[in-house]
Amino acid sequence: MAKEASNTNGSVTTKPPPSPSPLRNAKFFQANMRILVTGGAGFIGSHLVDRLMENEKNEVIVADNYFTGSKDNLKKWIGHPRFELIRHDVTETLLVEVDQIYHLACPASPIFYKYNPVKTIKTNVIGTLNMLGLAKRVGARILLTSTSEVYGDPLMHPQDETYWGNVNPIGVRSCYDEGKRVAETLMYDYHRQHGIEIRIARIFNTYGPRMNIDDGRVVSNFIAQAVRGEPLTVQAPGTQTRSFCYVSDMVDGLIRLMEGDNTGPINIGNPGEFTMLELAETVKELINPDVEIISVENTPDDPRQRKPDITKAKELLGWEPKIKLRDGLPLMEDDFRTRLGVTRKN
Ligand SMILES: NC(=O)c1ccc[n+]([C@@H]2O[C@H](COP(=O)([O-])OP(=O)(O)OC[C@H]3O[C@@H](n4cnc5c(N)ncnc54)[C@H](O)[C@@H]3O)[C@@H](O)[C@H]2O)c1
Repeated sequence: MAKEASNTNGSVTTKPPPSPSPLRNAKFFQANMRILVTGGAGFIGSHLVDRLMENEKNEVIVADNYFTGSKDNLKKWIGHPRFELIRHDVTETLLVEVDQIYHLACPASPIFYKYNPVKTIKTNVIGTLNMLGLAKRVGARILLTSTSEVYGDPLMHPQDETYWGNVNPIGVRSCYDEGKRVAETLMYDYHRQHGIEIRIARIFNTYGPRMNIDDGRVVSNFIAQAVRGEPLTVQAPGTQTRSFCYVSDMVDGLIRLMEGDNTGPINIGNPGEFTMLELAETVKELINPDVEIISVENTPDDPRQRKPDITKAKELLGWEPKIKLRDGLPLMEDDFRTRLGVTRKN
C-alpha cells in the first residue's frame, strides 16, 4: 500500500493517496509489480527497462510512439511473458492497470524537440496530464523525468533544487524547458490536490550506448564524428561546461528515487564538470587520435555552465554516480561502430 511521501521541504501531503484500482486485483491476484515506462523505447528508457526486467517480480509495459525511440532498443524483451510493448502517443489517454509509472516520453535532444515544438510542448503538458490522470485512476506512483533545463542559463552554480532557474519563455528551446517546468507544476498540483504519489527527477546530461546518432547532443555527436573519422565540431567558445552521467548510474538513481519516500525534485547527474573542448579532447584521445577539433557557431540560448549539486541525492537516496567519463566513453564505441557499420582499425 502507498505510503505518504514528504516533499523536499519536509511537509506532508494533506490528501491521502488514492487506493490502487480495484481492477488491478479483481480477476487475478497479481503479486508482481506492474510498471509502465512511457518513452521506454528511447535511450534512457530502454536501459531502465533492462534493469526493471532483471527483477523477476516486475512486469513491464512500455508505451512509446517511436518518434525518437526504436523497437530495436527493446528487441531482447519482445515476446517475453513479463513484457508488453504498446505503440502509443502519450498525448492520447491510456488506461492500463499499473502500480508505478516512469514517465519519460519526450524527445530529449534539441534537434528532435525543436523539429515540432508545438508537439513537444503537447507531449510535456498533455502527456503529463494524461499520465497523472492514469496515476490518479489506478492509484499508481508516478515519476517524471524532468531536466536540468528547468534551470535555464543558470545564475547559480552549481545548481541545487532550490534554484528557480533563468529560462527564456519565448526562445527556441522553450518548448522543452518550459514544457518540463509546467510538467513539474502539474505533478505537484496533482500531489497536493489529489494525493498522487509523485517523484520528480531533474536529470542532467546522460550518455551511453543507444543514444541516437547525430541527434545534436554533444557526446553522441563527438563519438559519431570520431568513429567516422570526421572533425569534432565544438560549438564556440568551447569553454561552456556540462556534466555527464553514464546511463547505468542514471537508471540506478531513477529506481532509488521511485522506491524511496521523497517526492523530489532531486537532481540526478554527475557533478564532474568538463568544458566542451575538454570533452572533445578526451573523445579524440580515447576513440580516434587522428581526428581534428574545429570550432563552429553556437545555438541560441545554449547555457554556459551546467553542474548538478547532488547533495540531496546523496543524502536522501544514498546515490552518487560511479562511472567516470573516461571509463564511460569507451563503452559507447562498440555500439556506435555497430550501428554506423564502421569497423575498428587495428
Ligand atoms: N538524455 C539526457 O541527457 C536527458 C537529460 C535531461 C532529461 N532527460 C529526460 O529523460 C527522458 C528520456 O530521455 P532520452 O535521452 O532517453 O530521450 P529519447 O529521445 O531517447 O527517448 C524519449 C522516448 O520518448 C518517446 N516519445 C517522445 N514523444 C512521445 C509521445 N508523445 N508519446 C509517446 N512516446 C514519446 C520517443 O519515441 C523515445 O522513445 C526525457 O523525458 C528527457 O526529457 C534526458
